[in-house]
Amino acid sequence: MKLLWKTHMRLQVIKLVFALFVVTLRTAESRKAKIVTASFEYNGINCRAHSASLTDFGGVGDGVTSNTKAFQSAISNLSQYGSEGGSQLYVPAGKWLTGSFSLTSHFTLYLDKDAVLLASQDITEWPVIEPLPSYGRGRDAPAGRFTSLIFGTNLTDVIVTGENGTIDGQGAFWWQQFHRKKLKYTRPYLIELMFSDGIQISNLTLLNSPSWNIHPVYSSNIIVQGITIFAPVTSPNTDGINPDSCTNTKIEDCYIVSGDDCVAVKSGWDEYGIKFGWPTKQLVIRRLTCISPFSATIALGSEMSGGIQDVRAEDITAIQTESGVRIKTAVGRGGYVKDIYVKRFNMHTMKWAFKMTGDYNSHADTHFDPNALPEIANINYRDVVAENVTIAAKFEGISNDPFKGICIANVTLGMAVKAKKRPWTCTDIEGMTSGVTPTPCDLLPDQGPEKIAACDFPEESLPIDKLELKKCSYNMKYVEMF
Ligand SMILES: *[C@@H]1O[C@H](CO)[C@@H](O)[C@H](O)[C@H]1NC(C)=O
Ligand SMILES: *[C@@H]1O[C@H](CO)[C@@H](O)[C@H](O)[C@H]1NC(C)=O
Ligand SMILES: *[C@@H]1O[C@H](CO)[C@@H](O)[C@H](O)[C@H]1NC(C)=O
Ligand SMILES: *[C@@H]1O[C@H](CO)[C@@H](O)[C@H](O)[C@H]1NC(C)=O
Ligand SMILES: *[C@@H]1O[C@H](CO)[C@@H](O)[C@H](O)[C@H]1NC(C)=O
Ligand SMILES: *[C@@H]1O[C@H](CO)[C@@H](O)[C@H](O)[C@H]1NC(C)=O
Repeated sequence: MKLLWKTHMRLQVIKLVFALFVVTLRTAESRKAKIVTASFEYNGINCRAHSASLTDFGGVGDGVTSNTKAFQSAISNLSQYGSEGGSQLYVPAGKWLTGSFSLTSHFTLYLDKDAVLLASQDITEWPVIEPLPSYGRGRDAPAGRFTSLIFGTNLTDVIVTGENGTIDGQGAFWWQQFHRKKLKYTRPYLIELMFSDGIQISNLTLLNSPSWNIHPVYSSNIIVQGITIFAPVTSPNTDGINPDSCTNTKIEDCYIVSGDDCVAVKSGWDEYGIKFGWPTKQLVIRRLTCISPFSATIALGSEMSGGIQDVRAEDITAIQTESGVRIKTAVGRGGYVKDIYVKRFNMHTMKWAFKMTGDYNSHADTHFDPNALPEIANINYRDVVAENVTIAAKFEGISNDPFKGICIANVTLGMAVKAKKRPWTCTDIEGMTSGVTPTPCDLLPDQGPEKIAACDFPEESLPIDKLELKKCSYNMKYVEMF
């Protein structure tokens, strides 16, 4: 391969010399090119044998030229190395305007720390695909969905990472179309991977997504780490990270400021989600910081019709956020939310510390089954400290379908000066508390401080926590034009 690479570089150099000649002949302006070395390392689920730069495929990082074709031809070219040690596409420093493009298997997309992917605002650069089968329709419009900026389906072993390089969705254009009800199709996400196994998305900054930021769906063995997400807190549906019908997922060390839920765990909508029947299970969320004044730190639902089971959230911080770990469901959803564990949650300035609602009545259509009741059971919270809370808890189950096994222990909520007189409202729920202030509602009787262990995490860790990342280091040469 080294030989091939050298030949390839020589070809590039020859081409460049020729290009330089032409440029200097035609204009007085001098355009320079040089061969540079990029050295970098990262921890990955796998390292790659072959590397290339976007500039090898005609990419131009001027913020104006479209790079959609450069990305597509680079990835199509690199896909040939899937069975030969995999490949990596390096995006150098620069502003790379692009529409949607698709990844391949055994592949890494690596952004330099000063690389910015700028999402195109030319609608023809966003192909339309079918709605998700577990949703039955798009969320913004019934027909198709614009493909996400970085998309992949039916892949194995795919990494999107960088030294905190940036992906800027330039969402204002889409938010305006959404508010004016001008969208024919559902808005694109920044990163979506469907039907894939072995996904790593790490050490990137995501700005102003048109809608959701990161959406792994029908996938397994997923690591999302070191992601910073910023969107205006009033921007529509800019959810942070949405594991949807996924198994064995880890979300760690993320900082999210957004206009919707920081993390939203999902598994399909009403009759479509029930029929598809693909749950989200074995999910761990650690060291998450969330700022989202109108939404939840972690939402479970509202689309949970395929079921949500075994979610563990620990060392979570919420600042000026509407609620903590919130369950959203409704009659017609079916499915379940069970075996949920939360510990070490610090909150500052919250409307509700705890919230569960059984009347989140947004439906895919009118054909939902009114007898499809969700099962909500074994929901545990412990070691929660909060200050400046307006309402301690709003727990509203479903009549004839109570939310069961709620366990809350070792919780101290500092109430706001303007707090509601009645801190807890509880209907159609069952459970217990231990060492909780202010005094909980009668449906959650305090069993005394020695019962804290009742709300503990399971002893055994999830399989994703046993996965060790490999240290990958690269020295790659590529042509830089400036
Ligand atoms: C992300 O960056 C941090 C700090 O540089 C590093 O410790 C961590 O291993 C990186 N994570 C991944 C998955 O690349
Ligand atoms: C794509 O791959 C082939 C090898 O199969 C190589 O010869 C060619 O130069 C590559 N294209 C580019 C633009 O690098
Ligand atoms: C991807 O996998 C799913 C589920 O196995 C299958 O239904 C679908 O046809 C596959 N799509 C493609 C493009 O191969
Ligand atoms: C990544 O960049 C963002 C935006 O500039 C910054 O807020 C964040 O702290 C950076 N993260 C790291 C780990 O350097
Ligand atoms: C109760 O929670 C606080 C704050 O998270 C923690 O420091 C303390 O160790 C917890 N108490 C017990 C008995 O676990
Ligand atoms: C408490 O919360 C209110 C909003 O409910 C906010 O206006 C106020 O600044 C907060 N106070 C502190 C000390 O954070």
